[in-house]
Amino acid sequence: MPNLSTIVAEIAAEMADAPDRGAVADYIAPLGAVDPRKFGIAVIDADGACHSAGDAEEAFSVQSVAKVFGLTLALGAGGDSVWKRVGREPSGTAFNSIVQLETERGIPRNPFLNAGAIVISDILLGNRQPAEVIAELLRFVRALAGEDGIFIDNQVAAAEQATGYRNKALANYMRAFGNLHHDVDRVLGVYFHQCALAMSCRQLALAGRYLMRSGRNPTTGHSVVSPQRARRINALMLTCGHYDGSGEFAFRVGLPAKSGVGGGILAVAPGRASIAVWSPGLNDRGNSQLGTLALERLVQRTGWSVFEG
Ligand code: DON
Repeated sequence: MPNLSTIVAEIAAEMADAPDRGAVADYIAPLGAVDPRKFGIAVIDADGACHSAGDAEEAFSVQSVAKVFGLTLALGAGGDSVWKRVGREPSGTAFNSIVQLETERGIPRNPFLNAGAIVISDILLGNRQPAEVIAELLRFVRALAGEDGIFIDNQVAAAEQATGYRNKALANYMRAFGNLHHDVDRVLGVYFHQCALAMSCRQLALAGRYLMRSGRNPTTGHSVVSPQRARRINALMLTCGHYDGSGEFAFRVGLPAKSGVGGGILAVAPGRASIAVWSPGLNDRGNSQLGTLALERLVQRTGWSVFEG
């Protein structure tokens, strides 16, 4: 295999010329203003070295990628009881779909759908104020990455709070089934601020290190979650991390990964690397067009797919 830094630099150069960059999400106004030519990639290898290229230092809105960190905290707080309120199956529906909630009585198929992440926000809220939960999330992500510069973009959160009608519908619907225990606005306050987490590719790849080696940060040696929990989070990322595009993503890339409508993807090559890519243009399933292509090329050149070859 050629040198990893060379592969990463080559992929960034190829993406700079890519003609079809997808469409930037504009249903959250500040996201619509992001330059579609942006592309960043950062790969933290098993020795902790960072190989990055393109706009890897620029902070972007991680959106649904943050659902991985929210889920990790909720499992820490609630353990397996979380699975009474949210499933572990791919939905085959869009990230913001409401259709299954009626027949499945307000229990979302998985924690990465918007509905699932809203339930996770309700679990995280417990008896606390939304601001305390968000402060904990920010502390957690900063500690995972070892970076104090990570922040929450309040403008993005405010834009979603003002216009997130579908999320409000999902939350109210689940509350009607008794699967939200707190006031809808407070739960959504947690959810929208979690989505508004702003990180660079390098920071995101650093934060994902605990998923690449049995729940333990390979650089610091700190155990974040048990090996079983890390394995299970990876399984959910592989099967549900790209919504109704999860099968296609597994087919093309073959890594546990979580996407966000800001155009970021966090991918895990178990035992080998934590990877973050960012390009704001999305495909028709709401997942980064060039981010997916870049990861496809990375696994082709490194042999890192979990399916090998
Ligand atoms: O709730 C929303 O619609 C956004 N804050 C997050 C959606 C998202 O990132 C879906 N992922 N591709």
